[in-house]
Amino acid sequence: MRRLDQLLANLGYCSRSEARDWIDSGAITVRGETAEGPAQKAHAADVLVDGEPLDHPDGLLLLLHKPLGLVCSHELREGPNIYSLLPARWQRRNPVITSIGRLDKDTSGLILLTDQSLLVHRLTSPKHKVPKRYRATLASDLSPIRATEIAALFASGTLMLPEEKTPCAPADLTMISLREAELTLTEGRYHQVRRMFASQGHEVIALHRTHFGSLELGVLTPGQWRVLPLNSFYTVDGATNA
Ligand code: URA
Repeated sequence: MRRLDQLLANLGYCSRSEARDWIDSGAITVRGETAEGPAQKAHAADVLVDGEPLDHPDGLLLLLHKPLGLVCSHELREGPNIYSLLPARWQRRNPVITSIGRLDKDTSGLILLTDQSLLVHRLTSPKHKVPKRYRATLASDLSPIRATEIAALFASGTLMLPEEKTPCAPADLTMISLREAELTLTEGRYHQVRRMFASQGHEVIALHRTHFGSLELGVLTPGQWRVLPLNSFYTVDGATNA
């Protein structure tokens, strides 16, 4: 049970002080009865706002098609961010909605967002080896012979990137054409895909993430998102099921 003013403020409806006026106006009910005041305690499932249930009171997990040009950081000095694509109420939630890992400003594609810190930790931990698949466009042709060599190196788990202390985990490379590659990683180091290709003398000029675990973008166009069930990644024993 939580105080009504806290519940409304944390779900982004209003500030705690505004909640008092709102509750006094009679817009909030608890189990069908007009709410008594901001300090009243209630289960989120029993609360209606103007007759409507609360907006995802147990937490949010979203799958977003990240467009190019937006950053995943909340730091406004880093430029326009992906959170500006979300409804204003969700932008005011506490805990805040944050991305599960990051994509660069110049990378598009599938990114998960959540207000569940446990999910962020589980799905970004290299321990869980969640596969993430990228489509990379190269600036120059990669001959089939060279592609075979690079694929073997990426798969070997021995590739050392400049200024890193440990080699990259084994990654799966499939060429779609001479300049189009599909690379699947189980970790998420800074600029990893671009740096892996750069280490082999190839510049990535476009990068798009197509899969995260078993999830795909489906029909979402850039900027669109869909809500996923919060338990999408949990099996009955609580282990990650990505
Ligand atoms: N690798 C990159 O280089 N950039 C991304 O955004 C993700 C993976």
